[in-house]
Amino acid sequence: MSDTVTSRLPGFHKLPMEERHAHLSRMFRLTPEDLQQLLGSEALQPVLANQMIENAVGTFSLPLGLGLNLQVNGRDYLVPMAVEEPSVVAAVSFAAKIVREAGGFIGEADPSLMIGQVQVSRYGDPTVASERILAHKEQILALANSFHPAMVARGGGAKDVEVRVLPAPEGPRGEPLLIVHLIIDAQEAMGANLINTMAEGVAPLIEQITGGKVYLRILSNLADRRLARAMCRIPVPLLADFEMPGEEIAEGIAQASRFAEADPYRAATHNKGVMNGIDAVAIATGQDWRAIEAGAHAFACRNGQYRPLSTWYLEEGHLVGRIELPMALGTVGGPIKIHPGVQMALKLMQTSTVRELSMVFAAVGLAQNFAALRALGSVGIQKGHMAMHARCVAVTAGARGDWVEKIANLLVKAGHVKVEKARELLASLPAEDAAIATGTNV
Ligand code: MEV
Repeated sequence: MSDTVTSRLPGFHKLPMEERHAHLSRMFRLTPEDLQQLLGSEALQPVLANQMIENAVGTFSLPLGLGLNLQVNGRDYLVPMAVEEPSVVAAVSFAAKIVREAGGFIGEADPSLMIGQVQVSRYGDPTVASERILAHKEQILALANSFHPAMVARGGGAKDVEVRVLPAPEGPRGEPLLIVHLIIDAQEAMGANLINTMAEGVAPLIEQITGGKVYLRILSNLADRRLARAMCRIPVPLLADFEMPGEEIAEGIAQASRFAEADPYRAATHNKGVMNGIDAVAIATGQDWRAIEAGAHAFACRNGQYRPLSTWYLEEGHLVGRIELPMALGTVGGPIKIHPGVQMALKLMQTSTVRELSMVFAAVGLAQNFAALRALGSVGIQKGHMAMHARCVAVTAGARGDWVEKIANLLVKAGHVKVEKARELLASLPAEDAAIATGTNV
């Protein structure tokens, strides 16, 4: 691997795709086969797809872009992002550039502690049952760990047992719920299989200890022992843009943060922006993005009100942004070692541990959120979005090649980004141009 990996690639977005590939080939010493995987055509063979899921009839593609400029804890990261929404990759790259000028993101992530839940019913007295379970903690842990000796040998595995007694949803006449939590260190794995095996494996012992009946045995996606955090501190003058001083932009971002803190309706959209970035990198790197989504939103309402995952405030001439959310990722397991496109994405990412990967994910979420709030708190997002959206509209109307950009520009200029308008523009071209513009000249 080249030791000159930088995420600062000025002009990358203007290069034709082949030149972007050439650039990456030089930086990462990629082989032609690697490039094929990046292009997608070789990324997931139907035979492999058929082994991954049931009733496979093919594979499904998404655009893969690279988020640029990201720096976390002084290290540069190129961020592979699989996403259909225009603006996401550009926004993260833009935000990361500003934060980079301010010293980059600071990231941290907890060890990979996950929770396996075991639901016990008909146990008698909840206090007595809880005490009995805790008195047998070592026996439960030993049994759980017996199912994954290799994980234990690597320093992971079941570490603790906790018991929760929850009020019955039907009211005081119902049996309180007795929930046993196995706290499991999944190390480099997301851990779902490991946790579920352990939770199922200890169930008979828990029934024996309590005299009760076990129902559910499954991991919790509210992975609140496995949080990732990122923060940044941007000098206010660096924010100046749209012919507005930095103070005004910073105030708009801080106001947007206050809005999300006070109002769940806004917090949902704020967090959607955060997840725009996180999901895209999760998909590209083969993560269980539904688990990440579920964890993020459950964490967002951990105190009873749905709140933003990130906050922004002004402090001594700086705009400070912080994000914290569960991050159950893996560098092994699931499709990670099987899917060649995922392998390629992780090669570009160059993170060496799951904790490092988690910090990068958190920083991507904060960067994405920053870009959205910066626009929302000042000029609005539609101007920027429309320019990107116009390209999709041009393609939908039939434009191809260089004409996509040309028609998109005309649509934006006309202030009318609609498919009918794009069709009208294509139809108004001289016959020869129209044939080229719609790719029908071949
Ligand atoms: C759009 O995909 C995401 C935003 O709505 C996020 C936000 O409002 O913060 C722009």
